[in-house]
Amino acid sequence: MLTMAIPTGRSMEDAAELLTKADILPPDTDPGRRLEIPLRDMRIILVKPQDVPPLVHMGFAQLGLAGQDVILESGARVAVLHDTGLCPCRMVIAGPPKAREGLMNSPNRKLRVATKYVRTADQVLPQRGLRTVTVPLHGSVEIAPALGIAEVIMDIVQTGNTLKANGLSVLMELFPVTMRLIANPGALNLQWDRIRPMLERIREVSG
Ligand code: PRP
Ligand code: MG
Repeated sequence: MLTMAIPTGRSMEDAAELLTKADILPPDTDPGRRLEIPLRDMRIILVKPQDVPPLVHMGFAQLGLAGQDVILESGARVAVLHDTGLCPCRMVIAGPPKAREGLMNSPNRKLRVATKYVRTADQVLPQRGLRTVTVPLHGSVEIAPALGIAEVIMDIVQTGNTLKANGLSVLMELFPVTMRLIANPGALNLQWDRIRPMLERIREVSG
């Protein structure tokens, strides 16, 4: 049985539309509260975005759709088969105007960065010449500077509305984020005959 994990939440609609265009998911499929969609010869499971890479890595799903942000943060060893270009956003450092100065030159003190991307922050920020301490939050990180929890935040930005509404702006661009098709490396070998036609259809419809 081939299983594909797709993310619930914001990107679910785009993921479902892509799979419908690729003829994998029948149009107007409504699973209701059910988290498993059985199809003719495979199934789709609906899971939290952060759970897609680990479930694919562990082989509970052979394929998955996941944002580059959660792929990196998971540290999961998965094969990236295709960049769909969907759900485009950017990983950035943002802060209030007064944080701009301290970003690159805080010789005495490490900069506190609030984020839900703890692993990514520890990996990427030193490469950008930043000396930071990561302050983990599960979300709503834009509140952190106002509370004094951290000087800046690291998060994804799509429209920029959340930053603006909280008096923050982008201080440093880190990397672009889009939704990728990922696979379990072992399954790629064993089930390539089944995976290849799906990959080709997804490629065709997502350009
Ligand atoms: C995400 C992200 C930003 C916001 C970006 O948060 O963490 O806060 O969306 O979108 P925008 O640039 O269009 O405003 P989400 O709403 O998923 O909630 P969370 O951070 O609490 O998980
Ligand atoms: Mg948020």
